[in-house]
Amino acid sequence: MGRTLDVYMFSLRNWFIKYMCFLLLPKEWVTALSRWIGNRRCLEIMAGTGALAYYLIKEGVSIIATDDYSCEKTCGENRVLWDKHRMWIHVEDLDAVNAVEKYGNNIDVLIMSWSPYTDEIAVKMLWKMREVNPSCIMLYVGEDEGGCTANDEFFPYLRK
Ligand SMILES: C[S@@+](CC[C@H](N)C(=O)[O-])C[C@H]1O[C@@H](n2cnc3c(N)ncnc32)[C@H](O)[C@@H]1O
Repeated sequence: MGRTLDVYMFSLRNWFIKYMCFLLLPKEWVTALSRWIGNRRCLEIMAGTGALAYYLIKEGVSIIATDDYSCEKTCGENRVLWDKHRMWIHVEDLDAVNAVEKYGNNIDVLIMSWSPYTDEIAVKMLWKMREVNPSCIMLYVGEDEGGCTANDEFFPYLRK
């Protein structure tokens, strides 16, 4: 019974990630976040399917969503095969560094949700944002240091 439930939960999680995203999106949280953002202009990097951006747009937020679609090519145990044609909104095919270079000067908030922890991309993006636009705020959504989002080096820099 326990094992059946585990397998079921695992399939449900994979299904959710494939069609939605890694984070849960309760309406109350999205509404509170959009109120905090207000009329600040946002860029989301590594936006996946664009689900978070889609719900923020519904709340009136101005946001550009980008992703390099590398997840689409990723294989492994947690394989995610996102379909470019089944995004929640238009997600511009752009590497995160190029996205910040392209839009960084015209934004107030950079959103980075569930960035990989197996490479240095998270801390690299924090440095890049501060280089391109020092007054921009990074809104990081994910786990704390030692978790499964963003590399550990990222956290001390985030708080500086
Ligand atoms: C764990 S998923 C999170 C996706 C989404 N933010 C969410 O919460 O569901 C990480 C995403 O980062 C993207 N990604 C990884 N490295 C990237 C890079 N260098 N530039 C742009 N996107 C990248 C992947 O394609 C994938 O969509």
